Amino acid sequence: MNYRHSFHAGNHADVLKHAVVLRMIRLMQRKDAPLCYLDSHAGTGLYDLTGTDAGRTGEYLDGIGRLWERDDLPELLADYRDAISLYNPDGELGLYPGSPQLAAAALRAHDRLILSELHPEDAATLREHFAADDRVAVHQRDGYELPRAFLPVAEKRALWLLDPPFEKGDDLERCVAQVQAAVQRMRQTIIALWYPIKDERQLREFYRRMGDAGLPKVLRVELGVRPMDTNLGLNGSGLMLVNPPWPLWEQLEETLPWLAARLAQSGQGSWRMDWLAGGP
Ligand SMILES: C[S@@+](CC[C@H](N)C(=O)[O-])C[C@H]1O[C@@H](n2cnc3c(N)ncnc32)[C@H](O)[C@@H]1O
Repeated sequence: MNYRHSFHAGNHADVLKHAVVLRMIRLMQRKDAPLCYLDSHAGTGLYDLTGTDAGRTGEYLDGIGRLWERDDLPELLADYRDAISLYNPDGELGLYPGSPQLAAAALRAHDRLILSELHPEDAATLREHFAADDRVAVHQRDGYELPRAFLPVAEKRALWLLDPPFEKGDDLERCVAQVQAAVQRMRQTIIALWYPIKDERQLREFYRRMGDAGLPKVLRVELGVRPMDTNLGLNGSGLMLVNPPWPLWEQLEETLPWLAARLAQSGQGSWRMDWLAGGP
């Protein structure tokens, strides 16, 4: 396990993933009924953007850094930026919350979080970070086991962020299998599966599998910051959203073109959103 999220926190991929997941939580909270948030590859709670790891890559500068001081953000992104501002009250961008912290701050007293992180050091940091929050259970275990271990949940409403590091060749296949398992165990599970885009031609099989997996609804959302056929680094990223709450796609339609233009590192940037299964 070489991947450490501290090098990448707040980059363009985190912006897409975190802004969308935060909005999904907000939309699910229109109902008072409790919900359970599962984060199978959780990382740690908070990242220091002024530290050595983030400083070495500087990736956050082309992510949250590009939105930080703007006063013309579309509403969905303003909400996300305000959620990050909570950790930077003096207005200087220094700390960035990981997905579990972003979710914990948004969730209510009667909601619950199940987190897993396999890296021993990051799991220990995460456990310590949430020690005082009795809504949160931290497990040091393989995140792909989460659906079989915890679904269906008693709350009857679940949101699962599936965000592996994609260090292994079979990660996309495992994701599809586990998403299928989750929906088989609890049909109404809402899932956000994040994936990297280096060369989009290498994703064709993954797209086909997601479309043919027998899932009720699958919305594909992608954001490119460079041409997506070069296989040189992280040119963009995507989210497969299973059972996304209405009217997420309408809100994203307003947000994605703006975001693609602002986060582009060469050319105009790109985005797309379409249904691989089911529909609105
Ligand atoms: C992309 S990072 C997570 C970032 C986090 N979800 C966020 O958005 O802030 C992926 C994390 O998965 C962890 N990891 C790798 N393999 C894992 C596995 N099989 N099960 C659980 N966690 C794993 C890595 O240590 C890393 O912290």
